[in-house]
Amino acid sequence: SNIDKIRNFSIIAHIDHGKSTLADRILELTGMVGDREKKDQYLDKMDLERERGITIKAQTVRIPYTDSDGQKYILNLIDTPGHVDFSYEVSRSLSSCEGALLVVDATQGVEAQTLANVYLALDNDLEVIPVLNKIDLPSADPERISREIEDVIGLDCTNPIAVSAKTGLNVQDVLDAVIHLLPAPKGDPDAPLKALIFDSWYDSYQGVVVLFRLLDGTIKKRDQIKIFSTGKNFEVTRLGAFMPEAVDIKAMGPGEVGFLCASMKELGDAPVGDTITHAERPVSEPYPGFKPVKPMVFSGLYPIEPSEYETLKAALEKLQLNDAAFSYEPETSQALGFGFRCGFLGLLHIEIIQERLEREFEAKLITTAPSVIYEVKTIAGDILSIDNPSKLPDPSKIDSIREPYAHLEVHVPNEFVGAVLALCEEKRGIQKNMAYITENRVVITYEMPFAEVMYDFFDKLKSSTKGYASLDYEIIDYREADLVRLDILINGDPVDTFSCIVHRENSARTGRSLALKLKRSIPRQMFEVVIQAAIGNKIIAKERNAPFRKDVTAKCYGGDISRKRKLLEKQKEGKKRMRRMGNVEIPQEAFLSVLKAD
Ligand code: GTP
Repeated sequence: SNIDKIRNFSIIAHIDHGKSTLADRILELTGMVGDREKKDQYLDKMDLERERGITIKAQTVRIPYTDSDGQKYILNLIDTPGHVDFSYEVSRSLSSCEGALLVVDATQGVEAQTLANVYLALDNDLEVIPVLNKIDLPSADPERISREIEDVIGLDCTNPIAVSAKTGLNVQDVLDAVIHLLPAPKGDPDAPLKALIFDSWYDSYQGVVVLFRLLDGTIKKRDQIKIFSTGKNFEVTRLGAFMPEAVDIKAMGPGEVGFLCASMKELGDAPVGDTITHAERPVSEPYPGFKPVKPMVFSGLYPIEPSEYETLKAALEKLQLNDAAFSYEPETSQALGFGFRCGFLGLLHIEIIQERLEREFEAKLITTAPSVIYEVKTIAGDILSIDNPSKLPDPSKIDSIREPYAHLEVHVPNEFVGAVLALCEEKRGIQKNMAYITENRVVITYEMPFAEVMYDFFDKLKSSTKGYASLDYEIIDYREADLVRLDILINGDPVDTFSCIVHRENSARTGRSLALKLKRSIPRQMFEVVIQAAIGNKIIAKERNAPFRKDVTAKCYGGDISRKRKLLEKQKEGKKRMRRMGNVEIPQEAFLSVLKAD
């Protein structure tokens, strides 16, 4: 197809500002979804998958469109994942586009993720078109929000597009803007094939499905392709685009967006960000900036019922097929028995995986506090990679420990600068820069141990800035630090899963705080429970929970049976998430208190 008539764009927005609703209206207006199939959040529905024999994971759709002058266009609406942990993937999706629609809720205004997304879009040289949404609501204030977009983001908003994605009002203006304001892609059809992989997933019928954006060259079914980073060759068995169902296409040229299948067995065969080229006539340079995603944060996952180990294993295996950034291997804990050490991109990634395991696989889990990877040099001269604090060698055998450092960028309104600086200092940060991007918006740059970022930094940042700060981070290097292992003993027995690695300077404070947190989260039992924090042989904190004597239900009003039953049910509910250690019952939240201790 004619490259001048292609428009590739994404919709970016803060959560709940109406991204999916606008996508639905666009699909209806362009006739991609007939009345028969019309339903809310059309693209979120996975039931198509069974009908068409291929999974539609991403909301990436090829839309043939004829404008009022009778000109024929191909619009590619490209979806982006929505989390900080996946910013590399967001960035790759955006780099497949020439432009982005920035949806801003006209009753709310610019929020943290609005900005984070805009910066990613601008980093990828995208043309950004602001769209004010929800103007059907009485509280909408398009004039004020337009000014805010101009002041805070610096985008021209003199004639803003104001829509109601809900009612469809003015959505046609959005399409006109896509056609007239966004540039067409560029590329050379005769150059060697160069295509960027911006998403891939595992489909049980087709194997790996790869979403790509063509930069140069032409691709056809049966072509022998090569994946740049791995050097592996494959034959294209299927080539097409989602409209929104999978439709086969014979050949594609520069600027086009599509999917291909090539008998790939695992996601590692088609890493997001990698370049596809021809085996016979490869490009000399790949699309720049490829980095394989690898887990940065490790945590133990244990079945609550030891008998569910095999079920959990099967669930992890299946999950891994569809998430290349997630890894797992068996591990054994003295306290929790048989389980798995799992690797994630970050804390949000852990939450997502945990939720999926519980919802889709009905697995009941204990998750232990996450840890970064430490590099330990032993006296004997070996270099060890430690992803589990309880595996740290005895201090007498350690020469030095290095920990990962992150480069951090915090965007924040200026009234919160003081609070952010204080927080960063508390987290062992080293300030690098501070710059006003507008009159009242500041970018603060720090280098900080990644362990500090990972723990409760994000929560604290949000709460100290009323949710206004947005954060981006990237791991840059490893640096030596004076680190020690903090152990927790319960009734005299060390509990390996509570061990954590902390800076020596903060160790006493963290130990006291952790012991106190555990005292609060471990319910009182029939006997005394003593909680101690120790470094080596030295006890640095001690708390005790006295045994309880009274029946808890005695607190309830005399004869209110239903209340009493509710309380008992609540206790039962709590039990499901407990693990017995020796004879002490420990609830899930206690395992995570390590995270919140400082
Ligand atoms: P996802 O992150 O993909 O789920 O999309 P989103 O969070 O950006 O927003 P979504 O489209 O799910 O919309 C969030 C809520 O706002 C939903 O309850 C929508 O029905 C509602 N909404 C979206 N657009 C409008 C609008 O123009 N007017 C009104 N009144 N409500 C809207």
